[in-house]
Amino acid sequence: MVNKITVVGAGNVGATAAQRVAEKELARTVVMVDVAEGIPQGKALDQWQSAPIEGYDSRIIGTNGYEETKDSDVVIITAGIARKPGMSRDDLLNTNAGIVKSVSEQIAKTSPKAILIVVSNPLDVMCYVAMKASGFPRERVIGMAGVLDTARYRAFLAEALDMSVRDIQAMVLGGHGDTMVPLISYTSVSGIPITQLMEKAKLDAIVDRTRNGGAEIVKHLKTGSAYYAPSAGAVQMAEAIVMNQRRILPCAAWLQGEYGMKDLFLGVPCLLGRKGLEKVIEVTLTPDEKAALAKSADAVREPMAAIKL
Ligand code: LAC
Repeated sequence: MVNKITVVGAGNVGATAAQRVAEKELARTVVMVDVAEGIPQGKALDQWQSAPIEGYDSRIIGTNGYEETKDSDVVIITAGIARKPGMSRDDLLNTNAGIVKSVSEQIAKTSPKAILIVVSNPLDVMCYVAMKASGFPRERVIGMAGVLDTARYRAFLAEALDMSVRDIQAMVLGGHGDTMVPLISYTSVSGIPITQLMEKAKLDAIVDRTRNGGAEIVKHLKTGSAYYAPSAGAVQMAEAIVMNQRRILPCAAWLQGEYGMKDLFLGVPCLLGRKGLEKVIEVTLTPDEKAALAKSADAVREPMAAIKL
């Protein structure tokens, strides 16, 4: 357990993340901060009142200012607007860049040693904004997307195979958009390559559904985007960091030559421990996977070039 974890944004993703952090007792204090007056305070009070029932001792507090977030160990940034049907994540670019920039500047002042987990969309570009605005090194700015995309892929596979989600190991790399790259060559069920258990056409359909997994949910909800699985993804990363689990999770990391790429955030296998991003793990990719990752990188560079910081 660390001393303090802050969640920026008391919307659906933020509030669900704060609740999950508290229930796992990852921090003594969980601070939820949001510009909306009363919302973080009301939700935090309600959540804190679930503590005697659920039996956790993490204290959740809500605030509109950054004073209470001072000296956070980890900050999960979920602030920003969410997609509506028909919108791509890139449609959120300018609005969310302004929000993430101002949040990151304030966090850098009040919690200069924090590790940032970015969840706001468009994810890979918002990581870049957070890193620039905070001035933090790449070890302490990590994006949550691959864990979510991989969870969707694993859930679809488990359903189609009628097998436990627990046994399905997989990795989805690349940007958090429809160019993401589910790695079939690294997909297995208890070590058995997926290609021995499922025919190609079925697998291709699942890969396709994974790529559009976020949009599928937006289409159902109509007024917003997913939050149960996104918050679970962010909290899994926070847990790996604060518990120093040294897990390998697919996350957005600032590449410095890995996979032959430089100066962009992209989803790659990351070793997460108490220092944050401890290492980017380079795995062998097939020529098709390499080409797909390069295409995905182009899809991240384009909106990245469009923002002014
Ligand atoms: C999704 C949003 C959160 O993929 O990016 O559901």
